[in-house]
Amino acid sequence: MAFELACQNPSASRVAPGAVALAPFMIRGEAASDAAAREDLLDDAFGPARFLKTCQRLRDGSAAAAGLALVATDGAGALIGTLRLWPILAGGREALLLGPLAVAAEKRSLGVGGALIRESLARAADCGHRALLLVGDAPYYERFGFERRFTERLTMPGPVERARFLGLELVEGALSGARGRVIRAAAPAIDLPRAA
Ligand SMILES: CC(C)(COP(=O)(O)OP(=O)(O)OC[C@H]1O[C@@H](n2cnc3c(N)ncnc32)[C@H](O)[C@@H]1OP(=O)(O)O)[C@@H](O)C(=O)NCCC(=O)NCCS
Repeated sequence: MAFELACQNPSASRVAPGAVALAPFMIRGEAASDAAAREDLLDDAFGPARFLKTCQRLRDGSAAAAGLALVATDGAGALIGTLRLWPILAGGREALLLGPLAVAAEKRSLGVGGALIRESLARAADCGHRALLLVGDAPYYERFGFERRFTERLTMPGPVERARFLGLELVEGALSGARGRVIRAAAPAIDLPRAA
């Protein structure tokens, strides 16, 4: 499956072994041991209503795209930020759903959120992904290149505020003409052995 294979060996690792140091915080790939702290952070940022969001319908039962679950940690190693990207089909086009993004309340406005987004976009491009969608505050996400025009003919699997439904092309034209429903990317096809 393109998503998996493309991301197992990112073509360009900017800082070995995959961590990006940005004092006073660091961004790295999420580890299994980060899950509890990540969920606590998301609970603090969004509350239990986070599971009711339309975007969650595109994450339920899925794993984040390979290599595209990131965390930010502070100088003591505590998890202070989380961002994950998810494989979707946007009107039939392979794309990624960005979010949820959250930064610990006491660590906001230090550039952590922006660094998580920029690193995720760079890694997604390295992995061969072509486009991203999100539902979020346009005044925040526009600075990273997300635009409303890419989603005008797309529909989500539930209610969203159209003004908050944004897209970004990593490859020019990747969302050009995209029309129709946004759905979870299909599970990887498995080649079963032929019956003897
Ligand atoms: C949104 C969030 C991830 C930003 O993280 P951060 O680390 O503070 O972001 P950065 O430091 O890169 O950027 C901070 C800047 O973005 C601005 N900003 C933050 N949230 C914003 C929003 N919703 N709309 C517009 N601007 C916003 C801040 O005012 C600040 O502006 P400044 O640089 O002029 O001071 C963080 O505020 C957060 O976790 N919020 C709660 C969860 C949430 O809303 N997630 C996003 C879902 S849309």
